[in-house]
Amino acid sequence: MNSTTVYETVNNTYSLIASNAEAGKAEEGKNSQIASSFGYSAEELASLPSGTNLGLSCGNPLATANLKPDETLVDLGSGGGLDCLVAARQMLKADSSPSGKVFGIDRSETMVALAQRNAGKANLPDGLVQFIQAPISEIPLQSSTVDLIVSNCVINLVPDEDKPIVFKEMHRLLKPGGRVAVSDLLAKTQMPDHIRQDAALLCGCLAGASLVEEYQRWFEEAGFQKESIVFVNTEKDLNVYQELAGRDGCCAVEPEPVACATEKKSAGCCSKDTQPKSCGADKPQSGGKVDFNEWVASYQIYAVK
Ligand SMILES: C[S@@+](CC[C@H](N)C(=O)[O-])C[C@H]1O[C@@H](n2cnc3c(N)ncnc32)[C@H](O)[C@@H]1O
Repeated sequence: MNSTTVYETVNNTYSLIASNAEAGKAEEGKNSQIASSFGYSAEELASLPSGTNLGLSCGNPLATANLKPDETLVDLGSGGGLDCLVAARQMLKADSSPSGKVFGIDRSETMVALAQRNAGKANLPDGLVQFIQAPISEIPLQSSTVDLIVSNCVINLVPDEDKPIVFKEMHRLLKPGGRVAVSDLLAKTQMPDHIRQDAALLCGCLAGASLVEEYQRWFEEAGFQKESIVFVNTEKDLNVYQELAGRDGCCAVEPEPVACATEKKSAGCCSKDTQPKSCGADKPQSGGKVDFNEWVASYQIYAVK
């Protein structure tokens, strides 16, 4: 898959997930179970408006990030606002009028609209949380202004050639001494082509997963000191998505092939009832039968600038 196809497939898929949540179709119970299995507390989850936790996470980057109420946090790939709203609650717990700021960055316009709606329902002080539509490889915030960067199951969705740029963006944004706390799926081994090219497994956060050595190299190339970079394999069971919600990883809908989405705009192709052959032909091959634990592991990744 070339990088344009990766961006379009990921964006179409996550925008559809956001639209479904906006329409009240998020499966709250299953999504809570998924988030609990990655370490969110019942109290954290209960504090979120419905449609915020979409069951798309693969860790809890804030669990050990020691966020302070006067800090500036950026969440890369903020989805429905899960970690931004949890961060805001943590700040408010420590200080009823925190001076810090939480920014959520997401490339999907629909996802940003959903996160804004959720933040509006969360009873937060004005201006504490702000969502920005942008790719995480080009973040419209000033250099050296951020204390903490978090991300939850997103960097794997960036095309390989742009991943090093994401690490450079993290380094650019952080103040000296600023820190990174990322949850992501990392590959246990090089994956075969039939997996790497599978759209469902890409959107499910498996097919785009990189090796620990690659993340280590990209951190160092971006300017992070080798000694400050730590990888922790959380050994979480990654078949929870399949077992609890019957789906491919963090992807809550089947990705629509890009060619099909384009055709649909012009010729009404690929409605739910009639699937023309031209669209079905490049349907994802995984069929939901891949053992995630065989190929990837959930990591907590830390670094300091
Ligand atoms: C698996 S979801 C995780 C959402 C959120 N972090 C959570 O845990 O609920 C991935 C999110 O990253 C966003 N995303 C994917 N690629 C992106 C990119 N290159 N730049 C910005 N956002 C991206 C998607 O739109 C989606 O909202």
